[in-house]
Amino acid sequence: MNRNTNPLPGRPAPLSDKDFRVFAEFITSKLGIKMPSSKKTMLEARLNKRLRVLGLPGFDSYRDFLFSETGQRDELPHLYDAVTTNTTHFFRESKHFDVLRDTLLPGLHARLRGSRELRVWSAGCSTGEEPYTLAMVLADFEAQHSSFSYRMLATDISTRVLEAAARGVYVMDKIDDIPSAFRKKYLLRSKDKKKRLIRIVPELRHRIVFRRLNFMEPFRLNKPRDVVFCRNVVIYFDRQTQERLFRRIADQIVSGGYLFTGHSESLTGMNVPLRAVAPTIYQKI
Ligand SMILES: C[S@@+](CC[C@H](N)C(=O)[O-])C[C@H]1O[C@@H](n2cnc3c(N)ncnc32)[C@H](O)[C@@H]1O
Repeated sequence: MNRNTNPLPGRPAPLSDKDFRVFAEFITSKLGIKMPSSKKTMLEARLNKRLRVLGLPGFDSYRDFLFSETGQRDELPHLYDAVTTNTTHFFRESKHFDVLRDTLLPGLHARLRGSRELRVWSAGCSTGEEPYTLAMVLADFEAQHSSFSYRMLATDISTRVLEAAARGVYVMDKIDDIPSAFRKKYLLRSKDKKKRLIRIVPELRHRIVFRRLNFMEPFRLNKPRDVVFCRNVVIYFDRQTQERLFRRIADQIVSGGYLFTGHSESLTGMNVPLRAVAPTIYQKI
């Protein structure tokens, strides 16, 4: 019997240290995500789900499939879905949205003077709570300033989360942090009240373009952005990868535009053309 074949069908297959290292190196090279040995149990559990779906007996056969031509085409998106952490919620790190609304938007609006739309990018948008939070704040500002308009790009590597984001349907338990005035304006209640679901209004959904983008591959946006949110993404990367990514993101920001990072993600000591203007808020120099 093959070393990695599951000896007890129906039970999770064991992941050897050697195979863990193969998958870990591959994941880090493709996604930038660090995979120390402490992640082995997590990876084993998540990949076992793929083994079950594919009907494979063990990690030997999964490895062979993943590195085959078909696997590289068909399995890679599932691997990305399986290994990314997509935790998010509406108005996460809410101080960012206060600073944006009260301090930065008035300045950006004055600078644009209606010459074009404000261009926003939610980079690493997960299931959409971050771009929809931004859209609520921006739509509210738009309603009060007739010459202001915005458009938004939201990207992630995981196709599963992007599909959920584009649908814009959420369980009611997720909306507690949305101010009640915004709930009334920007959320639709499911007709079947028993389902306890809400959907983001089409006026906001249609303002966001959702696209797949891997930060580890070369990227260039069609137009530079005024505001970029890249929050709670780089915590999974090593420092060198973080710095490289922030430099590439900075290349996509207009001079005087802003980058927001997660509250535990600092650019201190990095060689990037951005200066701190508030905690975890940076301006392109
Ligand atoms: C924890 S979520 C953060 C969501 C949101 N920005 C927030 O702060 O609530 C991190 C997201 O980064 C995405 N991600 C991880 N590695 C990536 C990569 N190499 N390229 C693009 N997105 C990536 C994941 O799929 C995940 O949805």
